[in-house]
Amino acid sequence: MAEVPLTIGLSLGADLEWPIFFEDIIGRLQPRIPFGDDYHTFRVERVTIEPFSLRQPVRYAVLLDRLTHWYHTSREWIKKAVVHDDLYVFNNPFTIQSMEKHTSYAAMMRLGLPVPRTVLLPPKEYETQPDLEVTLAQYARLFELDAVADQVGFPCYMKPFDGGAWRGVSRIENVDQLRAAYEQSGKSIMHLQEAVEPYDLFVRALAVGPQVNVIRYDPAAPMHDRYKVDFNFVEADQWQLLSDMVLTINSFFNWDFNSCESLRKDGAFYPIDFANACPDSQVTSLHFHLPWLVKAKIRWALFVAATHRRVRHHPDWEPYFAIASSDRPYREKLSAYAALAHRSFETDRFLEFCDTHLSHLDEVTWDYFSSDRALEAVRRKVAVIFPPHEVDLYTEHFWGLLQFWRKTERDRLDAIGSHRLPAGEVVDAPLHPLSQAERVEENL
Ligand SMILES: Nc1ncnc2c1ncn2[C@@H]1O[C@H](COP(=O)(O)OP(=O)(O)OP(=O)(O)O)[C@@H](O)[C@H]1O
Ligand SMILES: [Mg+2]
Repeated sequence: MAEVPLTIGLSLGADLEWPIFFEDIIGRLQPRIPFGDDYHTFRVERVTIEPFSLRQPVRYAVLLDRLTHWYHTSREWIKKAVVHDDLYVFNNPFTIQSMEKHTSYAAMMRLGLPVPRTVLLPPKEYETQPDLEVTLAQYARLFELDAVADQVGFPCYMKPFDGGAWRGVSRIENVDQLRAAYEQSGKSIMHLQEAVEPYDLFVRALAVGPQVNVIRYDPAAPMHDRYKVDFNFVEADQWQLLSDMVLTINSFFNWDFNSCESLRKDGAFYPIDFANACPDSQVTSLHFHLPWLVKAKIRWALFVAATHRRVRHHPDWEPYFAIASSDRPYREKLSAYAALAHRSFETDRFLEFCDTHLSHLDEVTWDYFSSDRALEAVRRKVAVIFPPHEVDLYTEHFWGLLQFWRKTERDRLDAIGSHRLPAGEVVDAPLHPLSQAERVEENL
């Protein structure tokens, strides 16, 4: 048997701690996965930014991308690698660039998901361009904001059609606030959306490939406390519905990872924000939930690489639209879409792959999150987010939540009869050096 090494690429921006977790855990896991008469081993490499030939070969078996939705050099490198070399990347920039929040609303409305009533507004101001005057003079209709508001009602939300990071979002209760918000929106193209209120539960459903985790969320809490550590806050059938919903969205758009925000009102879940190219992966937001996400990314990256999963160049929407136009009730349609999603994500094969080849991942991760190395990565992240006098406090805070995760995870692992790893020396690769910016932040 010969060793056939595969490389997992990470295209990163300001991500700091989860890539260290990802690299270290794969380093400790040492996966060896049979491939014909040979076997694959894996290494992780960070993608650098430099000039590239359009014929430059690609050496990654899979790429995790956290950067290209805003950094265009990387976006263009990845797009070239997809069209020229069939690189499997999650998320594929083609599926993100053409599917803004707005398009995702429209498509999911067509599938019957209860997206709140939403109207698109032309921008208040425009970039000056040679043809602008003539176009607007002929075709731009004057409109009454009050009449548009009648279509969605008060309260409502005004937010950018391609939103993200809570930029330019305002809650509006009356016509005066509506006018003020529109004045301030400048050149942004805005949605006006019916508010789902009052809601009794806010959740984010995080998905990586076919893996889903539903987390209770409080948008009013400080940043570090929005993802809640809570259990059993939805019944099994509601959990299933939220899982079916996010998998439907992701497989429809060919997204491998994403997070879907939904609000529950009168027992029904309304999805309000579900086109997140780069779902939050920071320990300072996800804390207790981050080990789940790191493991989910590791499993999906290894599965994609080891099975040589092919990148999908085009979405296939017809089967979804066929279900949408049938006269089945909503819940049945959602199950039918989810069945398509499981086929597309090869869920059965994936689960078998994890059972066969990654059965030690849970124990390796459980062990890793007690290491000095993991603690150092948490501290580094805290040091760039919090002021110096709060670094010790918040490092302890997030580390404490990770240790609480280890406690609940140990109970789970013991309940399923998992065996702890034998004590032994672990040798991690050298820690990724701090960037200049981080050194400045840390006063080094
Ligand atoms: N239709 C709505 N009904 C009720 N609340 C809403 C609605 N739309 C937005 N919100 C509130 O505004 C917040 C920000 O809106 P939204 O999530 O659409 O913007 P975003 O910029 O994508 O945010 P982020 O990137 O932080 O998720 C939501 O988390 C929610 O609290
Ligand atoms: Mg949101």
